[in-house]
Parts: sequence; C-alpha cells; structure tokens
Amino acid sequence: MRSKYVAGNWKMNMDKEGAQALAKGLVESLKGLNAKFMIAPPFVYLDSVYQIIKGSNIILGAQDMAATENGAHTGAVSGAMLKDIGVSTVILGHSERRYEFYENDTLINRKIHEALKSGLDVVLCIGELSSHRIVGVTERICEIQIRDGLAGITDEQLSHISIAYEPVWAIGTGKTATPQEAQDVHASVRSVISRIYGPKAAEEIKILYGGSMNASNAEELLAQPDIDGGLIGGASLKTDTFTPICKFASR
Ligand code: PGA
Repeated sequence: MRSKYVAGNWKMNMDKEGAQALAKGLVESLKGLNAKFMIAPPFVYLDSVYQIIKGSNIILGAQDMAATENGAHTGAVSGAMLKDIGVSTVILGHSERRYEFYENDTLINRKIHEALKSGLDVVLCIGELSSHRIVGVTERICEIQIRDGLAGITDEQLSHISIAYEPVWAIGTGKTATPQEAQDVHASVRSVISRIYGPKAAEEIKILYGGSMNASNAEELLAQPDIDGGLIGGASLKTDTFTPICKFASR
C-alpha cells in the first residue's frame, strides 16, 4: 500500500514573519500524523522555515531550481545550494513555470536530471489545459509530459520522483476535477509509468492531485485508488486550511 503525500506549494506568497508563523503552526498541527508532508516556501524564506521544521515530520521543498550546476547563471539557484540549506525535494514542471516562464519538457527534463544529481527528490507536475480536455487529448498530453520529462531517467532514479497531476484549468480557480475525472487520469498516468518502467514501479510511484484541493473536496479525492496525495496551493497558506487535508491523508 502506498502511503499518502501532501505537499504545500506556497508560490510567491507570504513575508518572513508569516512564513515562520505558518511553519510553526504546521509543526504543531501535523504532529503525530501519519503521512509524508512537504512545504515549499519561496526561495528567500527556505532557510528560516527550515530552522523551524527540522526534526519535525515536515520536509522542505523548493518550487523550482536551475537546470545547470553552480556557475555564471545570474539569478538562478542550483540544486546544490538548495540541498545545502536543508531542502530535500523540488517541484518541477509546474504549469505556472511552463506558461509564465516558458519552460518546456526539454528544460524540465534537464532540471530533473540536475535535481537528482544534487541528491534532491522531485515532484514532477503535469496536466492539460482546458482546451485539451475539451477536445479529448488530456491523457495524451499527460503521457507526452511524462515521457519527455522523464527521458533518460533510470528505474532507480524513478524511486526519487513523484508525479503531480494538475489540470491547469483547476489551479487557483476553485474548479476541481471530479474525483472520477481525476482518478481516470491518475490511472492512465500509472499505466504510462507501467509501460515505461514496469508494473512494480507503477505500483510504487506516488501520484498526487493538484488543482483547488481543499478541506471540502480532499476526502473524496484522496479516497480514489490512484490518488496518493495532493499538491496544494491556496489552501496550503493557512494552518487551518492545510491541516484538515493532511488529516484526511493520514487516515
Ligand atoms: P491551488 O494550486 O491549490 O491553489 O489550485 C495548486 C498548485 O498549483 O499546485
């Protein structure tokens, strides 16, 4: 049985005081819960949040990283730097990176290789636009994003990767995929992994759902057989809204 994984993507929100207060609140409220928990604050607050969560059952994630090693890359943050300050996981391929920052599958693939080389785990985000869903190519789009994103990734490396299925039309919009819609895509993602890496890897990989997941819909989404957790944006910004989702996951 796969254990559940709930990750909070704080995006470009919060100030230092707020980030520290939220981290403190979560350390208390998630104490004793039985699932994998990750929070991904903005880069500049990673270190101070780490000082609060280290030793707790919450791990530290980053929202992005450079595709290259340290060197002359103005404005970029390397995997080694993240690792150095306590980050253990990085979210890559988020749709906001794909569409606001023009990241394509080739770049995302390079970042994944670099992250694994730096000793970081990865949450690879995939998902279709609403125009894709309307014309019925959702599963095809997700398959391409998986195949191109994971190009050259070995069986052993795959054990450091989780996938987050995030329909772009559901992110930050309050519209959620129905549990059945999400389950259908999750099952197809698992079968893509099975075709590339075999049934054992497919059985083991965690596939999270993201897109307006909150305390009211999390229970039903997390009850689906192929939904192994959530990548939460808006609802991860307050202890009161994130904790109930973590509690459902810990059942
Ligand atoms: P949301 O964001 O929960 O605010 O929809 C999810 C995400 O982008 O990971």
